Amino acid sequence: PLDHLDSVWLFGYGSLIYKADFSYLQRRPARIHGWQRRFWQGSHDHRGTPTAPGRVATLIQADNAHCSGMAYQVTPAVFEHLDHREKNGYLRFFTEFEWLDGSGTVNGLVYVAGPDNDAYLGPASEQEIARHIAQSAGPSGPNDEYLLLLAQALRDLDDHDPHVFAIERELLALRQRHFT
Ligand code: BEZ
Repeated sequence: PLDHLDSVWLFGYGSLIYKADFSYLQRRPARIHGWQRRFWQGSHDHRGTPTAPGRVATLIQADNAHCSGMAYQVTPAVFEHLDHREKNGYLRFFTEFEWLDGSGTVNGLVYVAGPDNDAYLGPASEQEIARHIAQSAGPSGPNDEYLLLLAQALRDLDDHDPHVFAIERELLALRQRHFT
């Protein structure tokens, strides 16, 4: 039921920040309020397999939290592509985006995988999450590539996401131990 619109804004907070495999009219750094990024969603189809799911980002509701990412202005047809690509537990919601350059807000859609979906894994320590990610891979590639590209993309946005950067530190420490 988005078909009556010429374009829709989509908020990316995971792989969409660094990889958009669809065409868009424009993209702009943005943040959403009341949500925080957590590596609590299992990935059966991209960064893991059904028997050994990887861990990818979802959004968890939290008062006073915010999450930075990249917003894309797209045609409604793009959602057919994404609904298919993100069939592993994600649903889309309308929410308000705030432009990171301070120029105001817009309403748009964001994909969230809630605790009630079959692939949900839930909380674990950042060290456990790093170990899990270090061991996982799927059709889209190694799970650690997803984490490292996301961390770099967040640095490029001047974002400080303590959860993502803590997992990145643990992951790099694991590699050090492995190769020395
Ligand atoms: C994202 O990268 O923001 C994302 C896209 C689709 C589903 C979940 C997250």
